[in-house]
Amino acid sequence: METVKTMLPGWRRMVFAIFCFCFCAAQLPSQTQVLINQVFDQSGKALSLKELSNRKDLMVLLFLGADCPLSQKAITEATEDLLKSGGKDRVGLFGVLVARDDAEDINRLKEEFKANFPFYLDKDNQVASNLGVKVVPTAVLMDPQGKILYQGRINDRVEELGKRSMARRHDLREALADALQGKPVRVAKTETVGCPVETRKTTPHAKGKVEYFRDIQPILYRNCGACHQNNGVAPFPLADYEDTTVWVETAIGLIENKVMPPGQVISDFPFANESPVPTPKEVALLRQWVSEGMPKGAAPKTPLALPPTDPDVQGLGKPDLVLKPEGPMTIAATGDDLYRFFVYKLNLDQDLKIRTVRLVPGNRKVVHHSIVWFADSDLQKRISTDRALSDWDLLPGDKGPGYGQGPMLLKYLKVDPKSKSTKFEMIGGYAPGNGCYKVPKGYAITIPKKTDLVVQMHYHRTGKVETDFSSIELFLEKGAIDPTKEYRATNINDEKFFVMPPNQRKRTQTAWLVEEDCLISGFSPHGHYLTRAQTLTLERPDGKMETLIHVPRYDINWQRLYTFREPIKAAKGSKIHVSSLMDNTSANPNNPNKPPKAVFMGENTTDEMVFPFMSIIIDKNSKWDIGKQLNSLYRTGAITMALKKAFGPDKSNRKNNEQNTIGGQP
Ligand code: HEC
Repeated sequence: METVKTMLPGWRRMVFAIFCFCFCAAQLPSQTQVLINQVFDQSGKALSLKELSNRKDLMVLLFLGADCPLSQKAITEATEDLLKSGGKDRVGLFGVLVARDDAEDINRLKEEFKANFPFYLDKDNQVASNLGVKVVPTAVLMDPQGKILYQGRINDRVEELGKRSMARRHDLREALADALQGKPVRVAKTETVGCPVETRKTTPHAKGKVEYFRDIQPILYRNCGACHQNNGVAPFPLADYEDTTVWVETAIGLIENKVMPPGQVISDFPFANESPVPTPKEVALLRQWVSEGMPKGAAPKTPLALPPTDPDVQGLGKPDLVLKPEGPMTIAATGDDLYRFFVYKLNLDQDLKIRTVRLVPGNRKVVHHSIVWFADSDLQKRISTDRALSDWDLLPGDKGPGYGQGPMLLKYLKVDPKSKSTKFEMIGGYAPGNGCYKVPKGYAITIPKKTDLVVQMHYHRTGKVETDFSSIELFLEKGAIDPTKEYRATNINDEKFFVMPPNQRKRTQTAWLVEEDCLISGFSPHGHYLTRAQTLTLERPDGKMETLIHVPRYDINWQRLYTFREPIKAAKGSKIHVSSLMDNTSANPNNPNKPPKAVFMGENTTDEMVFPFMSIIIDKNSKWDIGKQLNSLYRTGAITMALKKAFGPDKSNRKNNEQNTIGGQP
């Protein structure tokens, strides 16, 4: 894929500089030496660089765009890097806002992101251009003479636009550590991904064949609007002319590379909850509009309405039950994403028949996706009191109920082979733009008595401290349901997958035998960071092959439950083939290890698995043990643990990671 390396920021206001941080360069800078004669403070007084750096040994200029989401996060991350490098007192940190931002932006950023360092405006992008800064955020580390010691990204959390991963290299922090010790900086330059400093000129009043209001707005609202609106999950809105002019060129690249809209899949069967994707004709219109100077055209009399943030919750009516966890969760400003389980107490004396379960995110900026299970209430009580699990993976500043996905978790959840029932069964989930999960008409999910609901949340961090208090709505099925059938969920596990050696790409292959006639209702493909694609194919007893679901660009951030419009009839003797394309090379931007190293099967996100979720409808009195594969995970896990002992240990940067493995004995 051709990587799109820049994106456009949404700076709306024109420049008016109260602060001016102006590098009056007498000449263009040589490779390492920049001439910085003077800067201006608030009152217009000229200061030399020496005075600005105020007897500091080093200074960091942090180039930012106020409305560029990646750049906002950089404020907190750079401050943290400074603290972690031990250079708080010896290094001066200065924010430099590039053109289009104004004094109001400075105040907003300082307040929202609690920035405790001074900001300046870079009028006409002069400083940026002198230093060759083309993308924000960019950090420039200098000595007081203006010699550049490091220039580039803060860390490698975003290596491709539209994708967030974990930070494996903290480049600024490492450069600071070297420089503070007076050593040459080992990596002096890195590539930055973010918003471009220069933005394209537009001619809003020009006449064009393609116009914003008539042609472009409907395309963007339909395909992008559910997420890219003010309270949507996406980091910026694409809802008006100005938003669109600044983002459109980046957007076209991401659409063509099938990165946006996210989570695109291919199937031989239609889905009930299909998300729209722009057609090639629409992309051509977007291109033409850009080339014509982005004319605005006349606004329609009735403004177009944005699509709802959760398209498929329309017409659901009032929920019968609303559940909340014990309390809200506080999510610290920076660090890797957080995966955490929350218990929603139910523990009833009778089974519930439901048609829909809906997770209502408390804070859409942080709730990325979630999976909902029911789980034995007594078991939940035991898990919740395990301190090792309740503290698992929390960063300083994270606080709230629930527990983490530590290595002991699956041991608790191990299925009793004598009882058919898995004590932990998936019943729904939430992904942005994909509101809730509905059972096909005529069937219902049974939530057994004496169970609670358990939600695994995947939280993003935004650069500031956030809280979330998400609720679950249950909608009971009150209509007729087929009493002879049972709606169930399970997983397919590739029992042959143990380890992915470093610097290799390979395709895994496994098959799941359909032991009785059944109806397949939906899938949620599942793997972790090494999984780049996953395909599920149905082989009919006569040998005919059909694609159930193919995820060409698997991304752990975009796991969804895909439900077929009509459940698929699968006859006894059919097979479901599952194949994952695994990439443990450094070309995989999500690879948790840099350089790559052996990754073992396991349930932590830095481990790997081939483990798609599946929902099927079987006969109520069936003897078919559909949880068999879930159990096999423990056997595979035990072998993996032995392998890990022999060839590990895994020293990835996750807290406690050396203990990570599937829980215990086979
Ligand atoms: C299902 C929700 C969703 C839909 C639909 C969606 N986006 Fe996004 N978009 C996101 C999220 C979330 C991000 C931030 C990246 C991330 O978290 O993976 C993003 C990021 C972006 C970015 C910036 C890249 C970055 O890394 O921040 C652009 C440009 C973009 N989207 C354009 C579009 C366009 C154009 C469409 C429609 C054709 C679209 N998106 C549809 C959720 C969505």
